[in-house]
Amino acid sequence: MEATTKPSAEQIERELAELLEKETFEPPAAFRETALIANDSVYDEAARDPQAWWATQAEALDWFETWDRVLDDSDAPFFKWFVGGKLNASHNCLDRHVEAGRGDKVAFHWRGEEGEERDVTYADLLRDVKRLANVLKDRGIEPGDVVGIYLPMIPEVAVAMLACARIGAPHNVVFGGFAPDAVKERMEFSEAKALITVDQARRKGKSADIKPAVDEFLDEVPSVETVIVVQNTGADVPMREGRDLFYDEAIESASEDCPAEPLDAEHPLYVLYSSGSTAKPKGILHTTGGYLTGVAWTQKYVFDLKPDEDVFWCSADVGWVTGHSYIVYGPLMNGVTSVMYEGAPDYPDKDIWWQLIERHGVTVFYTAPTAIRACMKWGVEYPQRHDLSSLRLLGTVGEPINPKAWLWYWKVIGGGRCPIVDTWWQTETGQIMISPLPGVTTAKPGSATLPLPGIDAAVLDEDGNETPADEQGLLALRRTWPGMLRTLFRDPDRYRETYFSKWDERTYFVGDAARRDADGYFWIVGRVDDVVNVSGHRLSTAEVESAIVSHPRVAEAAVIGQRDEDTGQAICAFVILEGDLEGSAELEREVREHVAQRIGKLARPKRIIWTADVPKTRSGKIMRRLLRDIAEGRELGDVTTLREPGVMKDLEGKFSEDER
Ligand code: WTA
Repeated sequence: MEATTKPSAEQIERELAELLEKETFEPPAAFRETALIANDSVYDEAARDPQAWWATQAEALDWFETWDRVLDDSDAPFFKWFVGGKLNASHNCLDRHVEAGRGDKVAFHWRGEEGEERDVTYADLLRDVKRLANVLKDRGIEPGDVVGIYLPMIPEVAVAMLACARIGAPHNVVFGGFAPDAVKERMEFSEAKALITVDQARRKGKSADIKPAVDEFLDEVPSVETVIVVQNTGADVPMREGRDLFYDEAIESASEDCPAEPLDAEHPLYVLYSSGSTAKPKGILHTTGGYLTGVAWTQKYVFDLKPDEDVFWCSADVGWVTGHSYIVYGPLMNGVTSVMYEGAPDYPDKDIWWQLIERHGVTVFYTAPTAIRACMKWGVEYPQRHDLSSLRLLGTVGEPINPKAWLWYWKVIGGGRCPIVDTWWQTETGQIMISPLPGVTTAKPGSATLPLPGIDAAVLDEDGNETPADEQGLLALRRTWPGMLRTLFRDPDRYRETYFSKWDERTYFVGDAARRDADGYFWIVGRVDDVVNVSGHRLSTAEVESAIVSHPRVAEAAVIGQRDEDTGQAICAFVILEGDLEGSAELEREVREHVAQRIGKLARPKRIIWTADVPKTRSGKIMRRLLRDIAEGRELGDVTTLREPGVMKDLEGKFSEDER
C-alpha cells in the first residue's frame, strides 16, 4: 500500500483560503447516517409544549420520586422545575450504571502531567464516592452545608464533587489556577464548612505548594472546620490535628455503605463563583433536577453520544462550568468513557492532545477557540504526528470562534469529516443553549447557529423589541429552561437586578451583544458589561482594578478588555501611580505579579499604561468605553461630558498605530 503523504503547511494554507469562500457546511452524509437526531422535527415537538417536552427528557434520569408539577413559575424570576420530585446526582452518575452491570466500564482515562496513566471505572468512582461521603458525614457535614473544592485535574476532583452531591452538600469548586486569595474569598462568601484540596499542584515539570498557601488564610475563615488533603505529589505538608485529614487515610477507614440521599429536585447541587460587573464575584447557584435534565440532554444530543461506541474528551478545567457540566455530570450521567488530562497542551510537547486522542481513540472532542488558535500557531506538524481518524465530531465553547480557526479545526483536526458544534452558553445557563444539532444543522463558521429545542433566544433592543435581521442588539432568553441558575447564593436581590430587571421578570438578560442574520442564525458579538473574556475565561474589570489598586504604589486603575489575536481579549490596564512616581519596567513586573497573587495568573494585565489621569464623567465614573476606543484605534465618540476632556489627547499619544 502506498504511504499517504500529509499535506504541507502551504497546501493547507491554500485550501483554507479557498474554504473561506464557502459560507455554509452541511452535516457530512456519513455522520448523518448514524446521528441520534437526523431531522429537525424535534424543534417543533419541543416548541409545541416545552414543559411537556422537557418532562419527557427528565424521564431519562432515575427519580426516587416523580414530580407533581413540571414547572412552578408563580414567583418569577424564581422558577422551580420538577416540583416534588426526588433524585440524587451521584446516583444518576454512578449507581445506576453499576447496578446495570456496567461497573467495570472506564469512566475516565486519566493522564497525569508526567505521563502517568490511571483508568478509573464507574465502580471505582462509586466506591470512593461512598467512602468520602461517609468521611464528610463523620465530620458533621449535613445537607445544605457548602464544601469547597480546590483541586487540580485529577480523578479525585470528580469523587469530591459527587461525594458532596451524594449527601446534599453543595460544592463550591474553585479553579486550580486561582490564587489562594480568591479561594479565601469564595470560602468566606459561601461559608464553607470543609475544604478538599491537595498538598501540591503540578504544572509543566514544576510543583507549587497548595496546602501551605491555603493554611495561610484558613485561620481567618473559621467556618472551615475540616480540610481534606489529597496527596498529589506526596510532599511533606503541615497538617493541623483535629482539622486536617489525608484523603487516602480517611477513605481507607471509611465505610462503603452510603445510600444516596433522596433530594428534592430544587435542592442546591452547587455554587460556582463567576465574574460579574462588580469586584465581588457572583455565587451562581444550580439545583438538582432541572440542571441534570438540561445537562444530560445536551450532552447526549449536542455531542451525539452513543455510550457503547464513543470516547469523549472535554479539555476544559473542572473549575469552570464547562468542566462541571461536560466533564463530570454530563458524561457520567450518560455512562460514557471520557479522557481527563491534568496538564498543559504544550507539555511535554505540543502534540500531547493529539497523542491522547490517538491513544484513547477519542471520537468527540470539545475545546475552546483560544486553544485552537494556539495550535494553529504551533503548526500542523503536531497534529500530523498522530492518527486522528477516530474523531467524528468536534465542539467549541467560551467565545466566538473566528472563521479561520473554525476552518482549521474542521480541516486539520477533523479531516473534513467531522461536524463542528459551536456551543453558546454561560455559567448561569448551566447547559448549552445555542448550538447546531450535528446531524441536522447546516453550520456557518463563526455562528453558534440556532437555539436548541425548548430554548427561546432572541436579540432585543433596549425596549424589548426584536431587532431587524443583521442588526446588533442584546441577547435574551425569553423562557425559563431547566438548567438555569436559580439565584445568586444568599443574594436574591442581586439575582433579580442582574438578570431580570432589563425587560421583565421572565426575560433573562444575558449580557452579550448579538445579531441574527436573515436565516435566523445567531452571531455572538461579545459582552456588553464590564466582563472581559480572556481565552474563554471570564474576568471582571472591577475585580482586576481592585487587585491593582491594592498595590501600595498605585493610586487608581482602569481596566479594559482589548481585542487580542490569541486570547480573544487581553487585559489592558491604565494605571495612575501615587504621588509623582514614574512607571518603570520593574514596577510593571511588580504590578503584574501582584495581580497574579491576588487573583491568579490568568488575570495578569498583558499591557500596563502609566497615565496621569483616565477619562471620567463629571460624576466621577470611569468611561471605559473611551479607553476601549483608544486602545482599539476607533474614532472617539462624544467626549464633551468628560470632566477633563484634555485627558484623551495625552492617552492617544501613548498608543502608536502598530500597537493597536
Ligand atoms: C461567551 C462558559 C460566543 C459569552 C460556558 C458568554 C461565547 C460567556 C460562546 C460565558 C460561544 C461562551 N460563542 N461567545 N460559543 N460560549 N461565550 O460563564 O460572552 O465562563 O456570555 O461560560 O462566554 O462565559 P462562562
